[in-house]
Amino acid sequence: MASAARSASRAFLRSSGARPAARSARFALPAQVRASTRRGYASEAPAGKSSSFGIWGIGLAVAGGAGAYFYLNGEATPKGPFVPTQADYQKVYDAIADRLANETDYDDGSYGPVLVRLAWHASGTYDKETGTGGSNGATMRFAPESDHGANAGLKHARDFLEPIKAQFPWITYSDLWTLAGSAAVQELGGPKIPWRPGRADGDIAACTPDGRLPDASKDHRHIRAVFGRMGFDDREMVALCGAHSLGRAHADRSGFDGPWDFSPTVFTNEFFRLLVDEKWNQRKWNGPAQFTDKGTSTLMMLPTDLALVKDKAFKQHVERYAKDSDVFFQEFADVYVKLLELGVPFKSKPEDRFVFKTSE
Ligand code: HEM
Repeated sequence: MASAARSASRAFLRSSGARPAARSARFALPAQVRASTRRGYASEAPAGKSSSFGIWGIGLAVAGGAGAYFYLNGEATPKGPFVPTQADYQKVYDAIADRLANETDYDDGSYGPVLVRLAWHASGTYDKETGTGGSNGATMRFAPESDHGANAGLKHARDFLEPIKAQFPWITYSDLWTLAGSAAVQELGGPKIPWRPGRADGDIAACTPDGRLPDASKDHRHIRAVFGRMGFDDREMVALCGAHSLGRAHADRSGFDGPWDFSPTVFTNEFFRLLVDEKWNQRKWNGPAQFTDKGTSTLMMLPTDLALVKDKAFKQHVERYAKDSDVFFQEFADVYVKLLELGVPFKSKPEDRFVFKTSE
């Protein structure tokens, strides 16, 4: 079934003339033609053995804590601590965009959706009462957090970013993962996601307990409890869930299966339009309860997705976003920026955020 849905989605992309990870006229994606800078890399993060970073990792963490790094990237002997500028972070963005354009033999043709999910799961562990969790720390490098059921499949995203980390060793994993989440939204045709650095990598002791991320089999009360714990209101919860215009569920990861719409590598408001316009029937299959569209039986919705139209307060926002893509893009950008910054002790101000240039 998974491959049938995948073929349907690929067939749509082919018949619509869109290459995977390519933009429609409305959401034109850049023609990414730069040569790959792919290089050999370890498939595990240096922290992969889970209890230690390795000597150079500890060195970086120490440097990171001081907020300065020595930039040893083939340049002349450094004269002092390397303090990365916006231009340096744009280089990281460009390298991610290049890799996204070149590594198309994955899922529906793009790693973008799984990068968006990595940034969200790194950030969505935040608990406003205790100040624990959030993207600061990148503790998903370590078991047990990497093994939490909700994080199944995110190794693909972490591994995808390893060559970027090797190319720019001065960036912390926590900054890299969130920058990649911002880059992926922009490169897949979504709104600009302003971003700022300042996250330090933590150690295994900072791993969050299992159960902080949402469970897709639950209802509106669960959504409010989980996102309320992070500090979001109803409108923000609905906007964030619009990221389900991207990617798909995988039977071998979450147990659920299929894409939410016909263009899973293009950021759109389709998730909301389909929630409102389609009829969704319970799928008859040997898997967890999920829903399928009456029209083609190739798309899916999770129980938590349908909770967004069953609950009246949520539904008014679903309808707003279904009607007006610009409103959705603006409100999504604002709340995704907020998500990626939860619990981060920035020294910079919000107005210091960088707006990255999307690739041409
Ligand atoms: C009630 C809240 C949410 C629930 C229950 C939920 C659940 C899920 C599940 C079960 C999957 C499928 C994973 C797989 O099998 O690979 C998924 C995928 C995804 N989620 Fe969510 N999610 C929620 C909110 C969000 C938010 C807030 C974002 C981002 C802002 C997001 C972004 C994504 C993306 C991009 C994918 C596709 C990943 C891929 O293609 O590999 N989700 N989500």
